[in-house]
Amino acid sequence: MALLDTHGRTHRSLRISIVDKCDLRCTYCMPEDQRFLRREELMTREEIATIARLFVERYGITKIRLTGGEPLLRPDAAAIVNDLMALHVKVGLTTNAVSLHDHLDELWSAGLRSLNVSLDTFDADRFKRIARRDLYDQVWRNVRQAHDKGMRIKLNMVVMRGMNDDEILRFVELTQHNDIHVRFIEFMPFAGNGWGRERVYTYSEMLGHIGSVHSFEKLNDDAHSTAKAYRVPGWEGTFAVISTVTEPFCGSCDRLRLTAEGKMRNCLFAREETDLLAPLRRGEDIAPLIEANVLAKHAMLGGLPPFRPEKQEEVLHDLSARPMVSIGG
Ligand code: 5AD
Ligand code: SF4
Repeated sequence: MALLDTHGRTHRSLRISIVDKCDLRCTYCMPEDQRFLRREELMTREEIATIARLFVERYGITKIRLTGGEPLLRPDAAAIVNDLMALHVKVGLTTNAVSLHDHLDELWSAGLRSLNVSLDTFDADRFKRIARRDLYDQVWRNVRQAHDKGMRIKLNMVVMRGMNDDEILRFVELTQHNDIHVRFIEFMPFAGNGWGRERVYTYSEMLGHIGSVHSFEKLNDDAHSTAKAYRVPGWEGTFAVISTVTEPFCGSCDRLRLTAEGKMRNCLFAREETDLLAPLRRGEDIAPLIEANVLAKHAMLGGLPPFRPEKQEEVLHDLSARPMVSIGG
């Protein structure tokens, strides 16, 4: 049975946050006074496998991405990757790469061949300002090491006006001699992250800026891709833009999410969630809960008003109480 919502979308992709903590504290993602879950509130490795198996075998989910917080803060992260691989789905992992060196061999052995790495700047001081931790050199060393080992790398850069928009070309130019995929993400609003519509460096501004220096061509996107992909002809890597704010792609959305404490969310911006973990621990059937959660999915942006400048106050007022760090990127 497929997970269909009332707007005709079939869901094939699940993102599972496996821990809500992070070893960076990016301003766009985590409020300074963030509180974290206790160990026993997190899903165990076995619970994650049980829930994932249900999504795959009963509901035809074909892609699972592990996120956090920072997923590699869990010592059993690679073991969880291994469990998911056994379900014969496409498995992905999003990491900040801070502790990647400790997990790389294990992740490779588990069969993982690609990584999405969050990196917003190539400047160590700026990194410290954005991530509130002085770890740029370590992160970049780890990215190089993973790339050299043969991992496909997607670099995710959250572009914030006046903060790092002057580095867009540098990220694009990294793709000249490196088979790396850079993705520019419009700055999205979450609880306590200082969002303002004026701080969003838009998709069209990005393309205009890049196009003033390099000519580029459009590549084909997968049907449910959130990113619009491009390439400078002849360059090794590619770049893409994720335009959630100025051109949302909700019509083709096929994603569901699970937080680290086992709460299901049908949208990144959802304001309602469904606890799966407590009923699972009580031995109840969670299938009806999953189906009801999907059916309640809004057509767009979790029911938020569109992210237009004149709607800014409404958006900020209506945001879910969760910051991105505890939703899972
Ligand atoms: N806007 C856009 N992207 C965000 N991410 C986290 N917070 C935001 C935000 N406010 C992205 C990170 C990372 C993924 C986990 O989610 O860059 O790539
Ligand atoms: Fe899917 Fe919600 Fe994101 Fe739109 S905003 S693409 S519905 S998760």
